Amino acid sequence: MDVAEWLRGLGLEQYEPAFRANEIDERVLPSLTAEDLKDLGVILVGHRRRLLDAIAALGAAVPATPSRDPTVRADAQRRQLTVMFCDLVGSTELAGRLDPEDLREVIAAYHGAVADLVGNLDGFVAKYMGDGVLVYFGYPRAHEDDAERAVRAGLGLIDAVGRLDVKSVELQARVGIATGLVVVGDLIGEGSAQEQSVVGETPNLAARLQALAEPDAVVIAAGTRRLVGDLFEVHDLGALEVKGIAVPVPAWQVLRPSTVASRFEALRGSALTKLVGRDEEIDLLLRRWARAKAGDGQVVLISGEPGIGKSRIVAALAERLHAEAHLRLRYFCSPYHQDSALYPFIDQLGRASGFARDDSAAAKLEKLEAQLARAAPQDEDVALLADRLSLPAWERHPLPNLGPQRKKERTLEALIRQLEGLARLQPVMTVFEDAHWIDPTSRELLDLAIERVRSLPVLLIVSSRPEFQPPWIGQPKVSMLTLNRLDRSDRTDLIEQLAGGKALPDEIIAQIADRTDGVPLFVEELTKSVLESGVTPLGIPTSLHDSLMARLDRLGSVRRVAQTGAAIGREFSYELLHAVSRLPEDELQTDLARLVG
Ligand SMILES: Nc1ncnc2c1ncn2[C@@H]1O[C@H](COP(=O)(O)OP(=O)(O)OP(=O)(O)O)[C@@H](O)[C@H]1O
Ligand SMILES: [Mg+2]
Repeated sequence: MDVAEWLRGLGLEQYEPAFRANEIDERVLPSLTAEDLKDLGVILVGHRRRLLDAIAALGAAVPATPSRDPTVRADAQRRQLTVMFCDLVGSTELAGRLDPEDLREVIAAYHGAVADLVGNLDGFVAKYMGDGVLVYFGYPRAHEDDAERAVRAGLGLIDAVGRLDVKSVELQARVGIATGLVVVGDLIGEGSAQEQSVVGETPNLAARLQALAEPDAVVIAAGTRRLVGDLFEVHDLGALEVKGIAVPVPAWQVLRPSTVASRFEALRGSALTKLVGRDEEIDLLLRRWARAKAGDGQVVLISGEPGIGKSRIVAALAERLHAEAHLRLRYFCSPYHQDSALYPFIDQLGRASGFARDDSAAAKLEKLEAQLARAAPQDEDVALLADRLSLPAWERHPLPNLGPQRKKERTLEALIRQLEGLARLQPVMTVFEDAHWIDPTSRELLDLAIERVRSLPVLLIVSSRPEFQPPWIGQPKVSMLTLNRLDRSDRTDLIEQLAGGKALPDEIIAQIADRTDGVPLFVEELTKSVLESGVTPLGIPTSLHDSLMARLDRLGSVRRVAQTGAAIGREFSYELLHAVSRLPEDELQTDLARLVG
């Protein structure tokens, strides 16, 4: 297949140079994701959608190339995948009832819905099998939250299928999801060999759970359940007899996203050990708080890599302030809502007002009014904020007639006035988590807030990963706190705490301390896996697979050097790596520079 011709056929030939420059050929094309398209410079959402639909259609018609070698290829990778299997309910009955043309239309609409949802979450539709669809999360690109992505896709899919309106048939689906280590061969263009290209029991388990699920249910296996923590409300189905698996397997039905707003609490909150080290950092935060309380508002930007302890240090500060009279406001950015204007603020208002799932709009409005009233807002502010939350407030609070730009500005002012109003009542500690996922409008609001906070009894803490460059560094009253990796003695301390009463041999403690490089999350997970399995810390705990793989995948072609190095050991000489990698000197140098840079 000629990719240039394919683009021309879609009327999108303007992207031909970018596709060519990035070596997008027929083998890579079917696995392109929305993110890849962004990287390729496809800025318009409409164009991305058209390309993704056309790519999905390619998958549906998986042609043709006869399988060269159905066995796993030499470049196969061992990966942790979250596999999702979904199927339409009652399709045989449907096939009997509809004429073939109509049936095809129904199935196409359903496949389209699946491809859309999966594409938006950067998953990979591996195969359409009649009305069944096999989807991978974690391949070809891993994300730290692949399990969560799969579950979100499952829930979204049930919802979307229920709302499909084709040929007046009511559709229902069921979804099974499992996570595990698999060996993936070359999945692209292998025709019938695709099924064999993922080896391991995970796809089988996902398919079996799907078959056992009730209509409109998403059922997950234990591996997935562990990784999603408390991010979702689940119903325990107990242990199910599954064909082909000797012992009953525990399974859960996912009901809905949970109301726990903080990812830290949902994923790590269950059993916190004592805080290790970080005395100076806590000191700094306490000093800034003391100033803020006295009316000299302060901003602290906390930056550090994933798992280094940003959320943890904020939690530790909150604990220290527990006995002091103050207000705490918490805002969370989400990787799933980066395009949704003011998401963290809207979410916070809903939480603070105490919205319940089944509340009517009128009930929500009343709760919102009560919440906002604490800061004695103007009528217009209530109207604007209610409007943001899609609540009909106009009878009691008329919405001013404004253009979109003016309306946005006024809404931002209303939110700032809320903060000012609350700060008049009590000193406020405001935490804004994960700013690397911030949406542009929230960015504007944060700019304003950072200005305004200086003259208020407010401590504003903003946390972010290093890919986000806080633009406020150097401004008055703004301090930067970069969290570094734990030193040797703190690592040991953390390992010993996690082990509780169990004495781990010194040698094992030393190995864990070494291999985790002082990232607390890694220390925790590796120690836990050693304690659970009782073996020496050689393997990588399943909980870390996705985030480590995501880091590796981000490296692109440089990954081969990282993998070669890893195969040699933790330490090796340049000469040895050069000899083994067989790369030309300049390529190796460039790759190494990217890896350590
Ligand atoms: N100083 C510490 N002492 C003990 N445990 C820690 C410490 N720092 C972090 N942890 C633990 O390590 C894990 C990861 O920390 P945390 O979630 O705060 O990282 P993070 O920097 O917020 O990561 P992310 O960017 O993914 O949000 C948590 O379980 C946390 O309790
Ligand atoms: Mg965090």
